[in-house]
Amino acid sequence: MNFFVPIIIIGVLLLITVLLLVIDTLIGNDADHTVTINDEQVIHVNAADTLLNTLNNEKIFLPSACGGKATCGACKFKLIDGGPEMSPVEAPLLSPEEQENNVRLACQTKVRSSMKIEVMRELLNAQEYSAKVTAIEDLTYDIKLVRLELIEPRTMDFKPGQYAQIRVPGMEIERAYSIASNPKHNNIIEFIIRLVPKGKATTFVHKALENNDDITITGPYGDFFLQEDSSRDIICIAGGSGKAPIRSILQVLKDQNMPRKVRYFFGARTQDDLYMTDEFKALEQEFPNFEYIPALSHADDDETWDGEKGLITEVVAKYYNDLSNQEAYLCGSPGMIDACIDVLTDKDLDESHIFYDKFS
Ligand SMILES: Cc1cc2nc3c(=O)[nH]c(=O)nc-3n(C[C@H](O)[C@H](O)[C@H](O)COP(=O)(O)OP(=O)(O)OC[C@H]3O[C@@H](n4cnc5c(N)ncnc54)[C@H](O)[C@@H]3O)c2cc1C
Ligand code: FES
Repeated sequence: MNFFVPIIIIGVLLLITVLLLVIDTLIGNDADHTVTINDEQVIHVNAADTLLNTLNNEKIFLPSACGGKATCGACKFKLIDGGPEMSPVEAPLLSPEEQENNVRLACQTKVRSSMKIEVMRELLNAQEYSAKVTAIEDLTYDIKLVRLELIEPRTMDFKPGQYAQIRVPGMEIERAYSIASNPKHNNIIEFIIRLVPKGKATTFVHKALENNDDITITGPYGDFFLQEDSSRDIICIAGGSGKAPIRSILQVLKDQNMPRKVRYFFGARTQDDLYMTDEFKALEQEFPNFEYIPALSHADDDETWDGEKGLITEVVAKYYNDLSNQEAYLCGSPGMIDACIDVLTDKDLDESHIFYDKFS
């Protein structure tokens, strides 16, 4: 092959890339466009960027658990007027009803022309916080507790069960972590973070983050939180780091003297994956209304374990015949949650009383 052919191909590709960038910039800049939010706030835009980034620049923080990768579907908004057509990557994350109603993903919508949008009012409460790490503790071989003190603003008002997003320094990415602490201590935010092999944010947290480091978080986010005006008995199911939001919920119920009957099922593989057992056993001692049931899925040969064995779904199914008067809070991997929902609905718990956060 002629020596110059690969060089010519690379040259042509570079030229096309530069041309595309120039066209992109020109198209993006040729109009002085605006984004009108909820018919109230108007922001002026002079560079083509995603709506998510455009809003972020204006200190409006839509949830973006996947960091803009179009996998979480958290950054939804309603397009009222203007804006580009829906891109193919958005559709899988939007139900037919949402698509019909012009619901879109902010991370996939480029602001190339003026548009009017509607954003749920509660989402506009999220803020950016500077914080300092005040403790990092090993809970298991792959799970750490991270405690932050908020510096500016000094307090975050969140509901038990909601999450915040940690910004990973130097990487321009954010990841969602449920708040594991008590909302009444609104200057302190605790997270329970499991190391995901090769994961960007969790490798940073587990290998680089240290006491006294400064860190930025945004929040609060999420519609998974304790339904405080309900009086139904509660069933909580969590696995791995899914203990985080349940802990926050239980701390609030504890402060209210555990007014509702609560059973908390925690699924782990082996005893090495259990943590905070003393904390929940102490709660059990204090309140007859509360029961903590850890269950191990890989404990067949473990003679030192006299607790529940089996998949968490099997254990839950064993405890109940009829769940129609209960309310469920589920947290963990998408697979675990889907399996739990099947078990709960099979036992007559209506889906409207099942609340969950999938750690996807
Ligand atoms: C609402 C919400 C709340 C969350 N709360 C918590 C929490 O309290 N504690 C916590 O530890 N995590 C929580 N997560 C998960 C968290 O946001 C990150 O997805 C996770 O920590 C991985 O981030 P990463 O940057 O390290 O991995 P990435 O760099 O994003 O991913 C690296 C690779 O790992 C895969 N991967 C990503 N996440 C997981 C996972 N959880 N298990 C297995 N493989 C994975 C990815 O597909 C990818 O291939 C929550 C997620 C959501 C949506
Ligand atoms: S930020 Fe996750 S889909 Fe948009």
